[in-house]
Amino acid sequence: MRIRRVRAHEGVRLREVRLRALAEAPAAFGSTRAEALGQPPEFWDGMCRECADGAACTIFVAEQDETWYGMVRGFVHRDYPGIVRLASMWVDPARRRAGVGAALVAAIAAWACARGAGCVQLWVTDTNHAAKALYARQGFAESGRAKPHRTDPVLREVLMVRTLPPVTTTPASS
Ligand SMILES: CC(C)(COP(=O)(O)OP(=O)(O)OC[C@H]1O[C@@H](n2cnc3c(N)ncnc32)[C@H](O)[C@@H]1OP(=O)(O)O)[C@@H](O)C(=O)NCCC(=O)NCCS
Repeated sequence: MRIRRVRAHEGVRLREVRLRALAEAPAAFGSTRAEALGQPPEFWDGMCRECADGAACTIFVAEQDETWYGMVRGFVHRDYPGIVRLASMWVDPARRRAGVGAALVAAIAAWACARGAGCVQLWVTDTNHAAKALYARQGFAESGRAKPHRTDPVLREVLMVRTLPPVTTTPASS
């Protein structure tokens, strides 16, 4: 399994993996499959273009033999450039508990570090014990902030945060 950044021309594949995720784990996400189905091809193409090489967002996919088995998205917080948000995390049920989720989190953390972010944040459904365990193993802690789930307000989402080490620069030799 290879973790790699999405490429600019992969809108069709991105749409396909996202629809699989939304069908398989609807309560895990803040948007619905119906909403995703309503998006035109330009939406997926545009997201891929932005996330392929932009500084404000990224998507990593887990790929084996040309098939995608997982994805995750990272983006810079609109109001706080030192915060990267992790979202849209999904691993195909056939490939779970094999370290793919951990590798996708690591890819976002490395991307956030490289752009000098101070922390990575994410919203996770409070009852999503698998995801919460994954994030806790990856150094995230619950922040105490919570909000109703966007599409199912009976559920709550909690904010988890992982602080990143400060960027160290090697002093120029004198
Ligand atoms: C949550 C999810 C991404 C985990 O992906 P994964 O590839 O299975 O995770 P990993 O194999 O990297 O797991 C790493 C660690 O996380 C924890 N973990 C993962 N799944 C777990 C589960 N079902 N129960 C308990 N702990 C779990 C374990 O500590 C695991 O380490 P271990 O296998 O050595 O015990 C996957 O279950 C998924 O896609 N769920 C549906 C979508 C979702 O919930 N997305 C999150 C949105 S916020």
